Amino acid sequence: MSGSAFTSRVLAWYQRHQRDLPWRHTSDPYKIWLSEIILQQTRVAQGLPYYQAFVKRYPTVKKLAAAPPDEVLRLWQGLGYYSRARNLHACAKEIVNSHNGTFPTTYQNLLQLPGVGSYTAAAIASFAFSEPVAVVDGNVFRVLARVFGLTDDIASTKGKKIFFEKANQLISKTQPAQYNQAVMEFGALQCTPVNPACATCPLAHLCIANQQNLQSQLPVKTNRVKIKTRHFYYLVVRNGSHLYLRKRLPGDIWSGLYDFYLVEEKKATPVQQVLKKLKLKFANTRVRAGYRHILSHQKLAVTFIELEANAAQVSALKENGYKLYSGKQIEKLPKPVLILRYLHDVGYLKKAK
Ligand code: ADE
Repeated sequence: MSGSAFTSRVLAWYQRHQRDLPWRHTSDPYKIWLSEIILQQTRVAQGLPYYQAFVKRYPTVKKLAAAPPDEVLRLWQGLGYYSRARNLHACAKEIVNSHNGTFPTTYQNLLQLPGVGSYTAAAIASFAFSEPVAVVDGNVFRVLARVFGLTDDIASTKGKKIFFEKANQLISKTQPAQYNQAVMEFGALQCTPVNPACATCPLAHLCIANQQNLQSQLPVKTNRVKIKTRHFYYLVVRNGSHLYLRKRLPGDIWSGLYDFYLVEEKKATPVQQVLKKLKLKFANTRVRAGYRHILSHQKLAVTFIELEANAAQVSALKENGYKLYSGKQIEKLPKPVLILRYLHDVGYLKKAK
């Protein structure tokens, strides 16, 4: 298919099928940036309420930059990939401190911001400033791979280059924002990963994947990261109605979020053995096993061990930076959803966000 046929058909499709989404009614680079960071690795239905909450709480980049870090993480709670929230905050601060509170206006300058890669820079540059630079996200890779029969590995540097070049040839120079939204929307609604709607697709008769029945094989993506299972044993120590928690350190999942004392084992291990290894005797233990939590490249198998600690154990916890928090405080702390689920299950926190 010719590039111009593709572009005009996708634009026409978008006119008829686009969803009415709040970030499509603004050219404010702050709101566009916010929406794009939230929507990375996140479906629109899941990201939308977070976008609305962020815009309400922080209507400007200055407000966001001035917010306490824990508050930003707490508002992000449940969206996952928490480095996005930390980068979001760092970027807001940089815009206020080094750019006088205004966003750079070109693709090249946007790329310099923390947490802003080629995808986000292209989205802001095109949606806010009409720069004709193509966004290439998972949706775009899929659409181009199928329609044009591109078999290069999208995980490879060479493959990425080929897709970026193709995307930048195809982009409408007169309607770059519409075009970019259109291809992403087409990938999200029509050319879906599983069971694409080829029967109603305006590109079907020109599409290589459709002609050769290759939909399920395109795009080609090798070296997918292996999913590993980790075995977590949380020691939940109470003092009256307070619990011991600590902010997680950088370098692993959930950095900056709060959780309980964690023992990680290489394989599933009986609780008695976990406690024995700690060389600690606890009174009145109660075990809640069988929690499962799925992250992008890891599965967690989690057991919560509720126990009473003696004075020496409590001082060891304190020395390691654990602090007592009340239910009211815990409600406000940013926590992994897994921890929140546990606190709901045991009736410690009430459901409702
Ligand atoms: N996913 C990522 N960016 C998006 C956008 N601007 N509209 C809809 N879905 C998206």
